[in-house]
Amino acid sequence: MVDFAKHLKVPSLDPYFFVMEEDRVNMERLEKLSEKHPINILVTGNQGCGKSSLVRQFAGYYSRPMATFQVGLLLEAGQLFGQQRLKDGETFYQSFLFSNVIRVPGCVVHLEEINRSENPHALNELFSVLSEERSIWIDEFGLVEVAPRVIFFATMNEGAEFSGTDELDAALKDRFYRIRLEYPPMSVEKEILVLKTGISPSVADEILNVVNKLRRNKQAPIDISIRHSLMIAELSAMGAPLREAIIYSLQISMNVLESLLLSIHVETGDTKEESNHYERYVPPDYVPSQRG
Ligand SMILES: Nc1ncnc2c1ncn2[C@@H]1O[C@H](COP(=O)(O)OP(=O)(O)O)[C@@H](O)[C@H]1O
Ligand SMILES: [Mg+2]
Repeated sequence: MVDFAKHLKVPSLDPYFFVMEEDRVNMERLEKLSEKHPINILVTGNQGCGKSSLVRQFAGYYSRPMATFQVGLLLEAGQLFGQQRLKDGETFYQSFLFSNVIRVPGCVVHLEEINRSENPHALNELFSVLSEERSIWIDEFGLVEVAPRVIFFATMNEGAEFSGTDELDAALKDRFYRIRLEYPPMSVEKEILVLKTGISPSVADEILNVVNKLRRNKQAPIDISIRHSLMIAELSAMGAPLREAIIYSLQISMNVLESLLLSIHVETGDTKEESNHYERYVPPDYVPSQRG
């Protein structure tokens, strides 16, 4: 573990990542604060609103190495640090990445979907490293101390809050500064689509026009994140008509889709061919092998 830090990367900056000025300024304050004493930051917001990207951008911006852990997948206590394993009839303790990562000075440790852990007790040990003591006793290692300037970032989808019924949950949450991410305004979303996918501003307008209709439609508003508007824009950039770019990007029910298609047709005249044409799905130069 001596030179583990070398294995961790500083994430590359996303040149087209946009953030609210107030958030940026306060993240700068938090970064300074982390020089004085340990801090943890909880980023909440809707799915696909840029939480994970924000953590990555922060690490890139401040040239900090970063590692991400899918906390939502943890099933039981101990799974972060290491586990007893059996080999050739002998048990031995295998330590996991997490125990090394937290010993890298200045590291950004991203705990993804912290609220989704199957079993809240899987987070027992996290509780110790997130506390002011920044250390935990693991029988197999002795005292594991978190390195200076390490920042724990947790991300969590809005609406899927910690249950709060578990005391561990509440106490855990208590230890974080909080950034509530919102979807950026439409003008910014447009800029993101244009810059990231290379579509023209007018195509971006067309996409966002339909997307916003879906978002605001009264019967059944559909939550379309930037992730999804980006997916649509990417398909457009590959030559897909608006109608197809949307169908192939969104997870929506057939009913909603039908009325959606109707509205796209009304808006753009972009319509489906009358009959579904079927063809063989083989490369153009494909030669079937001889059959004996
Ligand atoms: N503010 C933003 N500026 C630029 N791109 C963004 C922004 N927010 C989200 N994206 C893009 O949208 C996608 C989803 O973001 P992600 O960080 O994975 O969302 P979350 O973690 O909230 O589910 C990524 O491709 C990301 O680059
Ligand atoms: Mg995420």
